[in-house]
Amino acid sequence: MGSRTTHAIPVAGRVGGFVYAIRNIVAEARKVEASGQKVRYLNIGDPITFGFRTPPHMIEAVERAMRDGRNGYAPSVGIVPAREAVAAECAGRGMPVDPDRVIITAGTSEGIELALNALAEAGDEVLIPVPTYPLYTAVLAKIGARPAFYRTDPDRGWLPDLDHIRSLVGPATRALVVIDPNNPTGATYPADVRRALIDVADQHNFPLLADEVYADLAFDGPVPALASLNPDAPIISFSSLSKAYLAPGWRAGWLAVGRTDRLDDVLAGIKKLADGRLCSTGPMEYGIVAALTGDRSHQATFRAALRERAELTTRRLNAIDGMSAVAPAAAFYSMPRVTLPPGVTDEDYVLALLRKTGVLCVYGSGFGTAPQDGFFRVVFLAPPSELLEIYDVMAEFTADYFALRGK
Ligand SMILES: Cc1ncc(COP(=O)(O)O)c(C=O)c1O
Repeated sequence: MGSRTTHAIPVAGRVGGFVYAIRNIVAEARKVEASGQKVRYLNIGDPITFGFRTPPHMIEAVERAMRDGRNGYAPSVGIVPAREAVAAECAGRGMPVDPDRVIITAGTSEGIELALNALAEAGDEVLIPVPTYPLYTAVLAKIGARPAFYRTDPDRGWLPDLDHIRSLVGPATRALVVIDPNNPTGATYPADVRRALIDVADQHNFPLLADEVYADLAFDGPVPALASLNPDAPIISFSSLSKAYLAPGWRAGWLAVGRTDRLDDVLAGIKKLADGRLCSTGPMEYGIVAALTGDRSHQATFRAALRERAELTTRRLNAIDGMSAVAPAAAFYSMPRVTLPPGVTDEDYVLALLRKTGVLCVYGSGFGTAPQDGFFRVVFLAPPSELLEIYDVMAEFTADYFALRGK
């Protein structure tokens, strides 16, 4: 007979350190919806939710793979044609890499998780930008490693503060994370900044983890791989079909480990860890082949749509009293700042906006900025006409919010 007790079964302590504001905030939005208010979800960067469509030739390739019986486990590093297609793609961007140094992953996310697990012990440090995409801090929380946060500066187009990065390097540093083009700021980094970032990693002999998932979505056209500036530096590049190929739900991505033999042990470590999760989604690996070897004309259309939305967003947000926004150069995010009254946090503002108007953004502290600094992130994938309505609502709400608090 089983024993009975009323105690709740305990959860591991690491769960407490695991925060993912982009999705956590949805629970609040559901409550608002339950009260009858329509919610406009500007929290998740998923183009499909806003009517953008996966290119048909990619869907056909996945469908064909399933019909042809490619439904078994794939090799844990991925199928050869997908690894070859990724290697060719990297070479085309200036990162020459052998297909054997490519691993097909369940999105950029899994690639990053594999790499950080292969690199960092509990107590180690990884250099992470602020604001950051929260996956990095979430994975480090699971490992028990520490983020060493480096500043990126809104007054300089959200560029990384290189001196700050150099000052943070110490014996426990295991990697430098660079997100370029950036989420949540939409910034792209010029070659001199990129080169300086690579030099930090190269000179201190730890990997630069290059999150390049938005590389094709810079409004002026694709940006080269970071590794193109120094293919012999210790760089691991990450990307996926989620953004520029409009298939986030497929969980299909890759990582490419730079050609330097300094990274051979890390590559072997990542492969070992990849064995443990068997493989990424098999049929979708055929989608990667189709995406990287087939027609990508949808990207020009998508970039033009993003540029239009970005310009409109920057213009309208800057017209709101007490708000300022740096113009993004890529992706579908803006990170405006609202001057908050004393004692009010970014989360207070974002939750009040949600409850009053149904507009759901993510507070900047979810990306690591200080709560009193008043940053929040807007996803601007909605059609322009809807965005205009939303920004009108935000302007009205913000004026009332300040008036109520005597600003
Ligand atoms: C900077 C950045 N890295 C990684 C990811 C995760 O992408 P994936 O769907 O490829 O796992 C995202 C998703 O929004 C992102 O913005």
